[in-house]
Amino acid sequence: MKIGIANDHTATDMKKELVEYLEAQGHEVINFGTDGYESADYYIYGEKVANAVASGEVEKGIAICGTGVGIGMACNKVNGIRACMCSEPYSAKYTRLHNDANIITFGARVIGIEMAKMIVDTFLNTEFEGGRHQRRVNGIMDIERRNRTNQ
Ligand code: RB5
Repeated sequence: MKIGIANDHTATDMKKELVEYLEAQGHEVINFGTDGYESADYYIYGEKVANAVASGEVEKGIAICGTGVGIGMACNKVNGIRACMCSEPYSAKYTRLHNDANIITFGARVIGIEMAKMIVDTFLNTEFEGGRHQRRVNGIMDIERRNRTNQ
């Protein structure tokens, strides 16, 4: 699968380990940065990976900051994005099954690398269930359409 990944300075090491892990599984990973350790604004990187998912450049996205919260908020401002912050695999599984999430976010200051790998594996390997959940996802996207501003 073609996957986009982005992070702020708190998550550079975790991102690097995840890229290696995913590439070893045969995934193609596009890295949207940052690769540095100096203070960096998470929203810049969140927007980059979210745009890549929204445009279809990548199929799914991974976004990491200190908590996973700020970068997730930024991702969710991009039309077409359903980013979910998960600190454990149960939520990662159900946000795919029920919400058709297309970006997963988590906090490098909250969870360790082994938990991050489990979350990512679950997110990438769980299919959307559709059915009644499709109607609800459509409802979420209708909210976006009703509130979209064209600037
Ligand atoms: C950076 O200090 C921190 O605010 C950021 O990584 C993230 O946790 C924001 O939500």
